Amino acid sequence: MLKKFPRTSIINSMFYYIVTYGCQMNVHESEKIAGILHKDGHTACDTAEEADLIVFNTCCIRDNAEKRALGNIGALKQRKITQKNLIIAVLGCMTQQKGFAASMKEKYPYVDIILGANNLHLLPYYLKLNDRKNSLKIEDTDTYDINIPVDTFRTSYPNAWVNIMYGCNNFCSYCIVPYVRGREISRPPREIINEIKFLLDEGYKEITLLGQNVNSYLCEGYNFARLLSDISKIDKKFRLRFMTSHPKDFNKEIIDIIKSSENICNHIHLPVQSGSDRILKLMNRKYTSAHYIKLADAVYENIGGALISTDLMVGFPTETDGDFEDTLSLVKRCRFSQAFTFVYSPRSGTLSASMPDIDKETKKHRITELIKRQNAITKEISDTFRDKTAEILIENESDGIFTGRTTNGKLVSFKKSGSYKTGDFATVLISVSKSASLTGTILLDANLANK
Ligand code: SAH
Ligand code: SF4
Ligand code: F3S
Repeated sequence: MLKKFPRTSIINSMFYYIVTYGCQMNVHESEKIAGILHKDGHTACDTAEEADLIVFNTCCIRDNAEKRALGNIGALKQRKITQKNLIIAVLGCMTQQKGFAASMKEKYPYVDIILGANNLHLLPYYLKLNDRKNSLKIEDTDTYDINIPVDTFRTSYPNAWVNIMYGCNNFCSYCIVPYVRGREISRPPREIINEIKFLLDEGYKEITLLGQNVNSYLCEGYNFARLLSDISKIDKKFRLRFMTSHPKDFNKEIIDIIKSSENICNHIHLPVQSGSDRILKLMNRKYTSAHYIKLADAVYENIGGALISTDLMVGFPTETDGDFEDTLSLVKRCRFSQAFTFVYSPRSGTLSASMPDIDKETKKHRITELIKRQNAITKEISDTFRDKTAEILIENESDGIFTGRTTNGKLVSFKKSGSYKTGDFATVLISVSKSASLTGTILLDANLANK
């Protein structure tokens, strides 16, 4: 009996495990995949070893992201021989690359299902197809249905991620995202606002709006500033964050909305990439370093206590020592609270992939120097918090230690005390500053926000 129907008995309720790579968008999409699988009757498990279904939600932004995913998929080859009912599904950006599915089917023939980044909701359908014919290899990277509503299985309480738009139109010359994610589509404002109201009623305390370039949001007469303004007026105490902004679209109108709203956090993630105008032009970023500096100054001048974080890239094709010096000068001038630093890696099909890559040693030297300079600035900014109090939203608890963030994005850890729990606001006196993070103590008497 079991021999005859092995797959069916398992498929009705599988244990699944999702491995996520890439950006917040992907992290949130894994929450959607979990929601889809839950609704289909499957159960999450804690480790990949216990799973009947392993889903890889992949990223291809850099070579190392792709290598990591392929390494992990490759490691399942043996297990697939011994655990015949194991289903391996590969989803996400990596599968959207030209020719990827064909090459994956050849090199990893034991992968059962290959889906794209824009048709996650089809997973249950394909799982059933797969069930009917064990040998069938499924591939669908073409169906584009991104706006189909799904039941999200959220794991980031007290924060909730909310997509406001998908795709990207910018075609920065190094970036693969527009090729794998397609053109920008903004979600209708009513749909977004209703989702946020629902989440706040459910008890979420922080909303992070997601999009590759949120500033170019445009739908039904709403631009980003108007959307932000309407969301911030929802009558609840909550924190509103958004990512990612683009220096060519981030503007005074948005700054003014942030300035005038209690709920919008005074932390802006504004990737600059490079401080050299020549490199910025080759990157097709459509702004100059002077424009960026003016924006950063406007943020600091207008938004009380604002901090700016950024993305920086070294080793773009033809980058000279002089170009790199320009990046270091900009870093010094803009005083980022945090920088995500990347070594350029050519992505097949992008414009810059046809330009000559510079040598590894130079890239290594530059990234080390950049991180060193930024760490010193990060530490100086952290030091300004010492002996001050800050309102922290408690995001996590582990072994009696809470971690949470200031409104301007600094991570703070402190001992659990009183009746505080994850999702509460606490007033914390900061006593120690490490490089990126801070340590403090809850001021019990000062905490009225949750009462
Ligand atoms: N939409 C966002 C995020 C893009 S991906 C934005 O426009 O900023 C996140 C970061 O990855 C980018 O900001 C960039 O610094 C880096 N990145 C993108 N493509 C890369 C590549 N080919 N090599 C190295 N880093 C890259
Ligand atoms: Fe990539 Fe540029 Fe779009 Fe960001 S804005 S996703 S870096 S193309
Ligand atoms: Fe990676 Fe796709 Fe995000 S390429 S960075 S997972 S949009």
